[in-house]
Amino acid sequence: MIKKIKGTQDILPEETPQWVALENLIRRIMDRYNFRELRTPIFEQTQLFARGIGQLTDIVSKEMYTFLDRGKKQLTLKPEMTAPIMRAYIENKLYAKAPMNKLFYIAPLFRQENPQAGRLRQFHQFGAETLGTPDPLADAEIIDLTLTVFNEIGLKNLSLRINSVGDPVCRSPYKKQLQDYILPKLDQYCPDCQRRYEENPLRILDCKNPTCVELNRNAPKLTDNLCDDCNRHYLKVKDQLKLLSIPFVEDPYLVRGLDYYTRTVFEITSDALGAQNAICGGGRYDLLANELSGPETPAVGFAAGMERLLMVMEQQKIQLQAPARLDVFLAALGENAKKETLKWLKRLRTAGFSAETDFLDRSIKAQMREANRQKARFVLILGDNELKQNRFSVKLMDKGEQLNIPFDEVISFLKEQNKK
Ligand code: HAM
Repeated sequence: MIKKIKGTQDILPEETPQWVALENLIRRIMDRYNFRELRTPIFEQTQLFARGIGQLTDIVSKEMYTFLDRGKKQLTLKPEMTAPIMRAYIENKLYAKAPMNKLFYIAPLFRQENPQAGRLRQFHQFGAETLGTPDPLADAEIIDLTLTVFNEIGLKNLSLRINSVGDPVCRSPYKKQLQDYILPKLDQYCPDCQRRYEENPLRILDCKNPTCVELNRNAPKLTDNLCDDCNRHYLKVKDQLKLLSIPFVEDPYLVRGLDYYTRTVFEITSDALGAQNAICGGGRYDLLANELSGPETPAVGFAAGMERLLMVMEQQKIQLQAPARLDVFLAALGENAKKETLKWLKRLRTAGFSAETDFLDRSIKAQMREANRQKARFVLILGDNELKQNRFSVKLMDKGEQLNIPFDEVISFLKEQNKK
């Protein structure tokens, strides 16, 4: 038997209503915040991610689905959306169409990670990116937008951690300071951190290995070493969050796993998840546009994992969408009645009802059981008697009543009943 690829999921019909309801809610909120949807291809040139996210990041160095196509071009299934959004923004010259662009997406992404609860190889994110302003108000708006989605879903017990990773001006002397702190005990750090020491020492602060966490306990903080501009920016972001009454925790060791960040970074975690507890991450990336040969474009954004969100919703018993119910089940008995069913279904469907019949030649009893299984509100029974009288036997399933309704009145009768 051919099975699905490890780390991928089928989203079954009983699960899709919850997905669709979540997507609809996201779209409504994005609309209120004036973000517009941008869709990009599922694959891109590998170079986009290597340059955009950073060669030394886990994503680029070990997690990308990269392959040569028949023309020997190196392509990659997109592992995140920020670089593709920036690529599309530059390529389509969106900067020339509006002074600022507020964009959102809901998209499948691919990372060859070790699958576990909340960590998949194909997963989905929704996210938003504000391109074209360095204003700390935009950072705060992005964080507020994220939390608005989570609050309107009804999620509880989330925590927001924020930090500033500065810019190249303040980061490079800090890197040296951090390396000086780490060097005497470098051999006690995990192999990953030892590898990061030269090229990307900041990522050592983010290591979850308990030994490294302990070793990092007294590491110097970048927030104590920010340049004046970055410091002012960070203060303004925090002021805005306070004005919006958004609780947050400052985590001076929060360093995200992608190299494009400058200044603000943040993560939102849920206590309902295990090891993979981040439902959302984001931050500012003022230099990504330059990295991709575009015009200077300060930008800030976030992305949230849909599967993780849905896991939290399930744990917290949040249902955005009541289970689907069928309006009308048409139970037909005998050849003559059966001939009429599709015609009646079409009339009912045209009138706006969801309607179904039996395609398996089952007994009336079995058809009633099927109507119950599909939680039909009404059952229309059509047999030889009904055909003779030009009337349906109509069962009101919630009330347990049965009536006789003339064919030409049945649609208005059902509409009337539906209002009650
Ligand atoms: P990220 O932290 O790599 O950031 O991913 C954001 C979220 O996507 C995570 O918090 C998590 O919920 C979800 N996620 C990531 N990997 C997986 C996986 N393998 N399985 C399931 N869920 C996953 C970014 O992708 C940045 N582009 C965010 C951003 C946007 N920064 C600025 N703008």
